[in-house]
Amino acid sequence: MEIITAVRGFKDILPPETDKWRHIEETAHKVFCVFGFREIRIPLLEKTELFCRGIGESTDIVEKEMYTFLDRGEESLTLRPEATASVIRAYLEHNLHAAESVTKLYTIGPMFRRERPQKGRYRQFHQIDAEILGPDDPRTDAELILMLLHFLEKLGLRKLTLEINSLGCAACRPAFREAILSFLRGREEELCGDCRRRLVTNPLRVFDCKVETCAAIISQAPLLPDFLCAGCRDHFEKVQASLRLFDIPFKLNAKMVRGLDYYTRTTFEVTTEFLGAQNAVVGGGRYDHLVRDLGGPDISGIGFAIGIERLAAMIPEADADALLPGPLLFIATLGEAALEKAFFLCNGLRMKGIHVEMDHAGRSLKSQMKRADKLKSAYTLILGEREITENKALLRNMLSSTQTEVGLDSLEETITELAR
Ligand code: HAM
Repeated sequence: MEIITAVRGFKDILPPETDKWRHIEETAHKVFCVFGFREIRIPLLEKTELFCRGIGESTDIVEKEMYTFLDRGEESLTLRPEATASVIRAYLEHNLHAAESVTKLYTIGPMFRRERPQKGRYRQFHQIDAEILGPDDPRTDAELILMLLHFLEKLGLRKLTLEINSLGCAACRPAFREAILSFLRGREEELCGDCRRRLVTNPLRVFDCKVETCAAIISQAPLLPDFLCAGCRDHFEKVQASLRLFDIPFKLNAKMVRGLDYYTRTTFEVTTEFLGAQNAVVGGGRYDHLVRDLGGPDISGIGFAIGIERLAAMIPEADADALLPGPLLFIATLGEAALEKAFFLCNGLRMKGIHVEMDHAGRSLKSQMKRADKLKSAYTLILGEREITENKALLRNMLSSTQTEVGLDSLEETITELAR
């Protein structure tokens, strides 16, 4: 009978990859906590309307990538394609804004987008998402970016590029929209079908088009930074000044419009050459009207999401290996009595929080030692009939190849001491 495989674009994360993921997540918990963030856990499934209103009807995500279905024919539900809209839904539903003027939340989990799967792009992927709700001052933007880069550095990732842009606000963006429309007027025929539609729904989206002819046309188009109002220009300059304060290098990218409609003012991406076509590891930005658009008060926000698959792909295997120490002890056995004794000792030590391995299959001593080596065990202990009778055995340090005699009754103490 044929085996059943996973759905296209949905992938299993296996060990040792899971060790890398755990290291990434643990580092995020630590770093974000120091910057005052609290974890929030939110459902994978939301009412479809949340994303239509939050992300924007004319985005690729809402237009063609959402996993949307009628729940038993009654209600339209969607597997979340991102976390920001859900975080704000929860923030409003539980009145978190009433409790404090600044709310810093983060969440880690799977997102779903029905994109064409390829390396670095999956239909179920995972994000570490962080949001700051409340302040709209430029230092908040810089602080969030600083935390992000500090986190990436903690993971040993360098050779990353921070790209930033300002998308303006409700006051200055309409003029830019007009300028784009008049620039593209008369060239509609040269644009792809999607972009012709975008002219009506959201002309800024043309900047995101991957079709070569559209990209060539838009490369000549007016740029948003030239249309920023005094307030947005000042805000953006202050963000940059604060980044310089921490010596954070960045690149201005006037063409970065981001794929979601909620952004205002500061937007940013972290990219790397390492990942090929799917080069964005992080995307984020400010959203000063999203809370209001989702039915809440006028509260600003800014956040980012890191793609865990892409992040993990950048951590070399050798580094990941170093993250995972082998067992402290491997007990090799010869004979049934030794097996029984080892079984007792091994699980006793495990319950003391010490990683110990043994072999239950009664294999040759040679193959047991091979396994100890493969597992990168720090020490090995060989138990045979003589050792059981004499109630002592040789403890071998695998790195220095030195041996010391230990009494089996005091093994627990000796090993506990080594674990310190
Ligand atoms: P985004 O740019 O759509 O932003 O996604 C953020 C990151 O998620 C990307 O840079 C990428 O690393 C990863 N990602 C996105 N799609 C895929 C995919 N199909 N396969 C693998 N990885 C993927 C957002 O989602 C916004 N919610 C970020 C944000 C938070 N803005 C403000 N707050």
